[in-house]
Amino acid sequence: MTKKIFIKSYGCQMNVYDSDRMAELMGGEGYEQTEDMTDADMVVLNTCHIREKAAEKVYSELGRVRKNKQQRTENGKETIIAVAGCVAQAEGEEIIRRAPIVDIVVGPQSYQNLPDVLKEFNTTGKPVIETEFPIEEKFAKLPGITANSPSSFVTVQEGCDKFCTFCVVPYTRGGEYSRPVAKILDDAKRLVDQGVRELTLLGQNVNAYHGESPDGKECTLAGLLEELSKIDGIKRLRYTTSHPRDMEDDLIRAHRDNPLVMPYLHLPFQSGSDKILKAMNRRHTRDFYIELVERIREAQPELALSTDIIVGFPGETDKDFEDTMELVETINYASAYSFKYSSRPGTPAAESEEQIDEGVKKQRLALLQKRLTEQQKSFNESKIGSQMTVLLEKKGRHENQLIGRSPYLQAVHLETNHATIGDMVDVTIEGATLNSLKAVINTSC
Ligand code: SAH
Ligand code: SF4
Ligand code: F3S
Repeated sequence: MTKKIFIKSYGCQMNVYDSDRMAELMGGEGYEQTEDMTDADMVVLNTCHIREKAAEKVYSELGRVRKNKQQRTENGKETIIAVAGCVAQAEGEEIIRRAPIVDIVVGPQSYQNLPDVLKEFNTTGKPVIETEFPIEEKFAKLPGITANSPSSFVTVQEGCDKFCTFCVVPYTRGGEYSRPVAKILDDAKRLVDQGVRELTLLGQNVNAYHGESPDGKECTLAGLLEELSKIDGIKRLRYTTSHPRDMEDDLIRAHRDNPLVMPYLHLPFQSGSDKILKAMNRRHTRDFYIELVERIREAQPELALSTDIIVGFPGETDKDFEDTMELVETINYASAYSFKYSSRPGTPAAESEEQIDEGVKKQRLALLQKRLTEQQKSFNESKIGSQMTVLLEKKGRHENQLIGRSPYLQAVHLETNHATIGDMVDVTIEGATLNSLKAVINTSC
C-alpha cells in the first residue's frame, strides 16, 4: 500500500514552494500527498519564524498532531512527525525538547535530505535534526519541478544579506544565494511543457539576484526576465519580494520595455519615518522610496503597488507613525500587508529598551489597515468598466465559474462554459469588492 504524507505550510510563498518540492521528493519515496492528516503516515509542518504568533502556531498545531498520532497508534498505525522550515532552523533541538513527539527537524536549506533523514530515523528510531546550509547542493538534489497550476513559482534567489534589525530571515535562510540562469531556464521550460503560462520568480530579496549566466558573466534580475521572455509559451512574468535598494535601472526599464513583465510590484517600505528606517537598518529613506516609485511609475504608468509595513517598531512615536500614514497616502497602494512589530530572539531590535506597548501597536495597526483597505477597495473599483486579459487559474465555487488573475494580481471571477483553466481571456470588469473583481468574457463578433 502506498504511504501518505500530509504537509502543512505556514509563512511566505517560498515555504509554499518548498512544501511542493518536499511533496515531489517524498513522492519518489512512494509517499502520496494527502489533505487529510488522519490518513497520513508522515506529517510535515513547514513552519515560519517571522513573528512570534507564527512561530507559536507550530506548537499548538503539534498538540493536534499529537492527538492524531495517539488515535492512529490505537488503530495500530505509525505516524512520523517532521518539523521543517524557519522554526526548525531557528530552534533546532529545542523543538524536540518542547514537543517530544517530533521525530525529524529539517531546516529550509536541508530538506532535500528528507529521504535520507527518514531512513536514518527508521533505522535508529532516534530523532534526527538536520539544519545545515548547503543551498547549492539543495537545488542539485531536488527532483524536476512539477506544475500544479498555469501559474507557478520558481525560486531564483534565497537568503538575505540585508540584516534589517527586526528580521529573522538572514538567520533562518542564510546569506544571499542566486541560482544559475541555466538551471532556472531548465525549470521554466519544464513548467511550460506542463502548461504553465505565468512564472513568479521568488526570492527573499529577489531583485538582488545576480546569478551566473551560461557565458560565466553575472546576470541581473532584468537579464533573467529577458532570458525567460524568450521561452515560447511564457505569457507573464512576476517577481517577489523586492528591496527598494535593489531596484536597479535595468529592472525599472524591464517594466517599460518587456510586455511580459506584469504591471505589479511588491515593494516593502516598512516605515515612513527616516528615524525608524535608520533604526531598522533599511538602508533607504522615505524620500528615496518616493522618488523610486515615481521613476517606476514613469516607466510603467499602469503599475499597481503593494507593500509591507510594520507598526510599533521600538522607539516609534505618534509622529513616526503619522509619517507612515502619510507615505501610504502619497503612494496609494493596490494592496498591502501590515503587521505589529514582533520582537524576535536574536535580532538587534529585540534588545531595544524602547519597546512599544501592545495596545498602542494595536491601535496604530487598526488605523493603518482601515486606510489600506479603503485604498485597495478603490483600486479594485477603479477597474470597473475596463478591459483586461485574465489568466484562468482554477475553478470557482459555482458551476461554470472560473477564477483567474488580472495583470495587477487581482482575483477575477467569471462565468464561462467554453474557456478553461490555463486560457488567457479578454474580459470586461463589471464589479469589484475588496478582494476580487467580477468580469465577463468579451465576445468577438
Ligand atoms: N524579504 C522581504 C520580507 C520578508 S518578511 C523584504 O525584504 O521586504 C515579510 C514581512 O514580514 C516583512 O516585509 C516585514 O514587514 C514583516 N516582518 C518581518 N519581521 C517582522 C517582525 N519582527 N515583526 C513584524 N513584522 C515583521
Ligand atoms: Fe528581512 Fe530585511 Fe532581508 Fe527583507 S531585506 S528578508 S526584511 S532582513
Ligand atoms: Fe517565514 Fe521563513 Fe518565509 S520566517 S516568512 S517562512 S522565509
